[in-house]
Amino acid sequence: MSSLSKFETTPFASNPLETKADLAKFLVGLLDPLAAHTSPGGSRIHLGYTATHYDDIAAQLEGFSRPIWGLASFLAGGGEYEGTKRWVDGFANGTDPNNDEFWGNMRNRDQRMVECSAIGFAIAVAKEKLWDPLSDEAKRNFENWLGGMNDKEMPNTNWLWFRVFANLGLSRAGSPRFDAKRMKADMDHLDTFYIGDGWSRDGPEGVVQLDYYSSSFAIQFAQLAYSKLAQAEDPERCEEYRNRARKFALDFVHYFDEEGRAIPFGRSLTYRFAMSSFWGALAFADVELPAPLTWGVVKGLQLRNIRYWAKQPGAFYPDGTLTIGYCYPNQSMTENYNSPGSPYWCCKSFVALALPDNHPFWTSKEEPYPEALRNTVKALNHPLHITTNLGGHTYLLSSGQQCSYPVKQSAAKYGKLAYSSAFGYSVPVGNGTLEELGGDSTLALSDDNGETWKCRRDTREAKIENGKWLRSMWYPWKDVEVETWLVPPQKGSPMWHLRVHRIKTGRPLTSAEGGFAIYGQGEDGRALEPATGEDFGTYESGGEGRATSRAGVSGIVDLGVKPSRKGRAIRTDANSNLMVARAVLPTLMAEHDASGDSFWLVTGVFAVPNVLEEKGPRSGWTEEWEKRPAVPEEIHALMM
Ligand SMILES: *[C@@H]1O[C@H](CO)[C@@H](O)[C@H](O)[C@H]1NC(C)=O
Ligand SMILES: *[C@@H]1O[C@H](CO)[C@@H](O)[C@H](O)[C@H]1NC(C)=O
Ligand SMILES: *[C@@H]1O[C@H](CO)[C@@H](O)[C@H](O)[C@H]1NC(C)=O
Repeated sequence: MSSLSKFETTPFASNPLETKADLAKFLVGLLDPLAAHTSPGGSRIHLGYTATHYDDIAAQLEGFSRPIWGLASFLAGGGEYEGTKRWVDGFANGTDPNNDEFWGNMRNRDQRMVECSAIGFAIAVAKEKLWDPLSDEAKRNFENWLGGMNDKEMPNTNWLWFRVFANLGLSRAGSPRFDAKRMKADMDHLDTFYIGDGWSRDGPEGVVQLDYYSSSFAIQFAQLAYSKLAQAEDPERCEEYRNRARKFALDFVHYFDEEGRAIPFGRSLTYRFAMSSFWGALAFADVELPAPLTWGVVKGLQLRNIRYWAKQPGAFYPDGTLTIGYCYPNQSMTENYNSPGSPYWCCKSFVALALPDNHPFWTSKEEPYPEALRNTVKALNHPLHITTNLGGHTYLLSSGQQCSYPVKQSAAKYGKLAYSSAFGYSVPVGNGTLEELGGDSTLALSDDNGETWKCRRDTREAKIENGKWLRSMWYPWKDVEVETWLVPPQKGSPMWHLRVHRIKTGRPLTSAEGGFAIYGQGEDGRALEPATGEDFGTYESGGEGRATSRAGVSGIVDLGVKPSRKGRAIRTDANSNLMVARAVLPTLMAEHDASGDSFWLVTGVFAVPNVLEEKGPRSGWTEEWEKRPAVPEEIHALMM
């Protein structure tokens, strides 16, 4: 018997999630509890009372539409779901202007547009089950509603894909509302977002964001689904999309760790295991895989990620519906467009259910993370990320990304110096104290003695130098400039990465540089106490701060010629870290005067996460702690 209380597990934790039947069972386990939250006519699913920037009807439409990614895939792959009628009724009633449950006509830039991608996809793959049963009148209403998108304004982003899918669905239904010209124009435009090596920006030139919207959440997934569904009429474009995916896969695989987690980076993280839907989509599109990827490897990448999420207690309410948040419910990290139905975007990762039972994805034996991709450091030129899993810790160094429009907690989501699959990242929960700032993996600066803080958001002149490290500029105030080099782990010191900052300031500053935030409770369930050596606890000494707990060890060290910063292990405010609600943050602090001359900060960041269910960092980490990384010669020369 497991000793876990029911609050420490999920309704899905016992599902091994190894076979197609297991995956279908998990999907049904997510769909069934929605019945109790569904409106009488089926068209709205109401899962909570928190608000979004758009109207509540659109929010309830989200609750209705997003699970369809899973339902339609399941039906397409030969599955039967007895609750399917709820969605068929919902289509009829939601699109009937004379019904109380009418979703409302599409306006310009309407949130309803987003939902048309799942709906269009559903008609394209499961027409017999989801479209054919509708009455003629319902079909007319449905196509009018969906086709209402064709003459509306849309944001110049991945959103255009939603209209492509709406039109794809309309074409498969043989509808007169299908607009072939519009669809081609949208795709031609979307193709201008392509920047090479498989990567597309989420918008026109000038947009630098390359987050999960470029991969699983939107663009790559859409390209792959399209390449499968439109092969007959648009073969060249479909082949181009498969080629892009082949290149992209070899970069994207570096965002996943051996345990199945993806590195949290960017916005919309409450979509959780949607992060891995690219892998299922590769199979859906029958892409010929580039080595070292095999179907067994791809299956592992997809299923391990879903398996990880199926076991996260904080991701679900006790009835099996999803919470808004990441590893636990929290509004601080979310965006103003996350309704209680939004997390169901994760249902894209059920696309593997659309595959026939004899597809190699299902017949191959699941394989672990490929040996050839372990203990690597890889510079990704388009997103300006250096990814690494050297020493068993999967994370990325980042400089140069930012959101092209104001998004909540933008500095935390795009501007941090590092993002880890094991330690996640933190967001501010207030603006009063350093504890509230959640300043992990960043350099925080204050010009008012710690009253308020600034962290990097607007990163300038970022580049990867010599294929080896990142270099960038940050101008937090008119008279302050910060030049930063981020150096990935080196062979002799694999548990460390290095940061070098050259700071020039015309005003007095306080600095607080954070490492990775780590689970901050001891084995007694109480806050970590000071401890030395291998014991769990916090450690603060001169220029060193560190914390050790069942999640592993995280530390930060001042490696300056004359270390002058104070090492601390700060208990950050509750609910600031995405992965653990109670965290400790190793931090270096100092005061700097307004000399106007450049000064240098050199920082070593150390981290060893625990492995699977084991508690604490692996033994031998204390020796690694002593192997301090050296500043590369080229950078060292600048410091002379
Ligand atoms: C919803 O649609 C179905 C099928 O058209 C119909 O039988 C039912 O009465 C409708 N329900 C409501 C509440 O309008
Ligand atoms: C999330 O974090 C905020 C700020 O710490 C807290 O007030 C709130 O209760 C948390 N939970 C939810 C569900 O938002
Ligand atoms: C911090 O919060 C207070 C109160 O909401 C607000 O007045 C102030 O402008 C905020 N300061 C910063 C720097 O964001």
